Amino acid sequence: MSAPRSATPSQAPSFSAPIGVFDSGIGGLSVLQALRHELPHERFVYLADSGNAPYGERGDDFVIARTRTIAQHLIQAHGIKALVIACNTATTAAVSLLRAELPGLPLIGVEPALKPASLSSQTHHVGVIATRGTVSSQRFARLVAEHGAHTQFHVQACDGLARAIEQSTEVPLPADPSATETRALCALYTGMLGSFGVKTGQMDTLVLGCTHYIFAKDDLRALLGPEVQLIDTGAPVARQTRRLLAAAGHLAPEPAGAPANALAGPAQLQLMTTGSLAALQSGAQRWLQLPATCCQAADMEQPATARG
Ligand code: DGL
Repeated sequence: MSAPRSATPSQAPSFSAPIGVFDSGIGGLSVLQALRHELPHERFVYLADSGNAPYGERGDDFVIARTRTIAQHLIQAHGIKALVIACNTATTAAVSLLRAELPGLPLIGVEPALKPASLSSQTHHVGVIATRGTVSSQRFARLVAEHGAHTQFHVQACDGLARAIEQSTEVPLPADPSATETRALCALYTGMLGSFGVKTGQMDTLVLGCTHYIFAKDDLRALLGPEVQLIDTGAPVARQTRRLLAAAGHLAPEPAGAPANALAGPAQLQLMTTGSLAALQSGAQRWLQLPATCCQAADMEQPATARG
């Protein structure tokens, strides 16, 4: 564990300080994977707030309070040099506040990828799936207005989908993937959006506006077919993290002779959860091929309102 730092960072952290990454649960592991590729020489501390998930249906006040608490914890107990909010819902609710409160900390949020979707869609009809919290926010409305001049966005809040994905990691992979709750919810919500395909008037693109949804990619692909492009935000968020760290002069130096295609390995990763340790271990193993030894219970107190 790194030396504790002030809750309002004022001194430059060391190059070797870890980057903090957090999500309401295991969804942010998809962003962590992109970060491991983009920044193979960095250390990462990942916090899954699964004990308080899902955020998407809990309201802004709760999400803001949790985001603040987790940011302070990662600064004080882990001495992070940057924070990636690997959660669209928490970014929507709290990133502006947190930027004002922590001006010295490079802070990177995630937002549904409406801009790349509008630029690449050929039919100019784009589906967007995200949590209720994200799609009902002013920030999301601004994003739609900004990129909606030539594209019609079809938006669906997906209550329960992040929870179903979260819970699916606690059980072994199903023999029949078409019989899971995740598949049923994907079918329900994409069905509500309308017709997908590459013909005029159809949605040829689906934006995954929640970091959990990439883990339902196979279900979505099976439902929508091979021609519909699925867009997530892991890689652009990782590139933005690199840019901000470089601008702040905080990038870890590349070791001499490091291979070009390196990937941050288990020794550089500390994964923690406020919920089920077995679920985090299984998610880390299933999706990131990481050993269970990378995972531990979060070293922080649970709020009195947890699971309230
Ligand atoms: N993974 C989160 C997101 O990107 C939210 C899931 C949830 O807790 O509802 O929005």
